[in-house]
Amino acid sequence: MTIDVLTLFPEMFSAMRHSVIGRAIENGVVSLRVTDIRDYSADKHRKCDDYPFGGGAGMVMTPQPVFDAVHAVDPAHACRRIYLSPRGARLNAAKARELSEYERLLFWCGHYEGVDQRAIDLCADEELSIGDYVLTGGELAAMVAIDALLRFVPGVLGSEQSAQDESFSEGLLEYPQYTRPRVFQGLEVPEVLVGGHHANVEKWRRQQAEIITRKLRPDLLKNKTEQ
Ligand code: ADE
Repeated sequence: MTIDVLTLFPEMFSAMRHSVIGRAIENGVVSLRVTDIRDYSADKHRKCDDYPFGGGAGMVMTPQPVFDAVHAVDPAHACRRIYLSPRGARLNAAKARELSEYERLLFWCGHYEGVDQRAIDLCADEELSIGDYVLTGGELAAMVAIDALLRFVPGVLGSEQSAQDESFSEGLLEYPQYTRPRVFQGLEVPEVLVGGHHANVEKWRRQQAEIITRKLRPDLLKNKTEQ
């Protein structure tokens, strides 16, 4: 998979060069290319923002640098183009999985108080939000979305099983996990996990997932029965 990111703050994406995602990039499972929108500004001072027509607080990103950057990086519109925005459709596990099925994705990030609507009209196939709160820019949202979707791309996680097993995969939270030691601070690992009976372990995990979901996120069970 190839992911392009267009941003005014390319150095922020160095955070993606670590751990699991960093390894996937190193191994060539994913190619992450970060482009500085400012490099495409036609302004002699490389300006990318201006005052809003109609007045109002703050600055607005001008459409030209975004438009030129998007068309330079993706001239044939081979990418699914996504603009990170609090007014977009909300990211969840199903959405992350859906995005993971594209060969090429392009995320572009706004900053300042907003982006000229024409940039969105001309350069976004969809808008994506990571939650009902406003961030100072789309960069952190892009990184959250990229991390979440890449976990569904084969070869990114160590074992193909892990993205299936965990929280939200069946509308349930993940069961509790234990490792050594058998007893820690007086707390014991549940007996069933050390008994070596695979079917019993599976049954216990399913029960625990339901108990935990009922306790911490009962709304997930309600959504499940409505599906
Ligand atoms: N940009 C600013 N706030 C955002 C949010 N909640 N999700 C995605 N992009 C954003």
